[in-house]
Amino acid sequence: MQPEKLIIFDTTLRDGEQCPGASMNLKEKLEIARQLSLLKVDVIEAGFPVASPGDFESVQSIAREIKGSSVAGLARALEKDIEAAARSLEKAEKPRIHIFLSTSKTHRESKLQKNKEEIIEMATRAIRFGRKFCDDIEFSPEDASRTERDFLAQVVQEVISAGAGTVNIPDTVGYTTPDEFSSLIGFLKSDVPNMDEAVISVHCHDDLGMAVANSLAAVKAGARQVECTINGIGERAGNAAMEEIVMALKTRSQFYGIDTGIDTKQIMPCSRLVSSLTGFFVQRNKAIVGRNAFAHESGVHQDGFLKNKDTYEIMNPQDIGLDSSELVLGKHSGRNALQNKIKALGYELSGDKLDKVFNDFKILADEKKDIFDEDIIALIQKEILVDDRFNTYSMGSMKCHFETGQTPTAEVMLISKDGKEHHASATGDGPVDSMFNAMDKITGLTCKLLDYQVMSKTRGKDAQGEVTVQVSYENREVLGKGIALNTVEASGFAYLNAINKLLFKSKSGPVEGGEIPGP
Ligand code: KIV
Ligand code: ZN
Repeated sequence: MQPEKLIIFDTTLRDGEQCPGASMNLKEKLEIARQLSLLKVDVIEAGFPVASPGDFESVQSIAREIKGSSVAGLARALEKDIEAAARSLEKAEKPRIHIFLSTSKTHRESKLQKNKEEIIEMATRAIRFGRKFCDDIEFSPEDASRTERDFLAQVVQEVISAGAGTVNIPDTVGYTTPDEFSSLIGFLKSDVPNMDEAVISVHCHDDLGMAVANSLAAVKAGARQVECTINGIGERAGNAAMEEIVMALKTRSQFYGIDTGIDTKQIMPCSRLVSSLTGFFVQRNKAIVGRNAFAHESGVHQDGFLKNKDTYEIMNPQDIGLDSSELVLGKHSGRNALQNKIKALGYELSGDKLDKVFNDFKILADEKKDIFDEDIIALIQKEILVDDRFNTYSMGSMKCHFETGQTPTAEVMLISKDGKEHHASATGDGPVDSMFNAMDKITGLTCKLLDYQVMSKTRGKDAQGEVTVQVSYENREVLGKGIALNTVEASGFAYLNAINKLLFKSKSGPVEGGEIPGP
């Protein structure tokens, strides 16, 4: 048996745009509508045409351009709203007018001051009026989840008789629970005699964080349209997030037995677009589209994932339009994950060299928040370029002092090949210069600094710095390089690298490459 199809009704441009701070201009809305159409949503609710000339124009432009998906305009149960919606949708390939009217006791009495009979009369009149312009009419009894069940059933029956093809059951204030909502949908299915003449839709808000769960429970109970938004944006705490509903139905297809027509590979591009145009950042750990949704950092998880991805992943990142999962290298990562990353970066390291890089990586991960590929490359290069045979000295320690109005000073300790420690202190124009002078005192060379360059090796404020020095001594010139988180420290390593080259050259002639010393 073919699985049934669920209609996905996207209201990012209406309910989503309605939330404080998310308003978008015409161009932005069109851009999102295009992306929603690539996503293959069944219905795009483009706006509330009577609300403002801008809203009218956006719905009109989207209606003109979008093919494939239905385009809906929202209207209160008032003739002027319905006329505005109808006019804005005139050029739509598949227009839908979405009429809403509150039905709950609180809304009837406080907001509308109308009794039950008046509500039914108003709703049915509006639907009949709407049908003059458009065959596809959706009706929403606003605050349905808090409406008396018998009255709700009566409203639903009447609006279907009046010509509504879709009846949407909104949980307007995000009050319901999955069990309760599922039972409400079951009740409407069994107690509304003409229910099978219309599609049951649901529209859930997230005030208690249950919008997606409530929507899915409704689907299980027989709802065949879900209203939702990209990234879950919408009034107050937002609406049910489309990406979560779609991926839940896909991932748990055996359980739900219902398909959507969504091209899930477009989920990520759509999420990014909505986030950038509304300025609503997606929380890092958000399901499906959060930055961490396919990222693994703990050593145990990474190890399991590398052996078999199913150990810690229930979806394929490619299915939502990502290239791959991310093994985030951080202080919790293990040796296995690091070795895997080193391989992926095109290097082969094992044994002592891998141990050394792993050790350096752990030290770096403690100091630095984000470890980028460039950081790992810097550590590898530092390790693979090291050849102790060329080194007369290795770095023992460095200490610099700089204070406004005082002469900068530095103390350096170098270790010679025989293990002896050599200490010196010196002053200079700055901490770096002082350090270079202290090293000169130890080596006995009086070097001339010809060039000094600092380059950020990786990304971010806490990026590793690479310092390159060009040094001359007795008409010979060498380049020295050093890498460290701290540029002063990197400068010390770079200068020592140059000194070792000079000392090696003075003993055995020119040498290519040389090492990049590090901590
Ligand atoms: O939340 C709600 O009840 C609505 C209706 C207009 C469907 O947004
Ligand atoms: Zn809503």
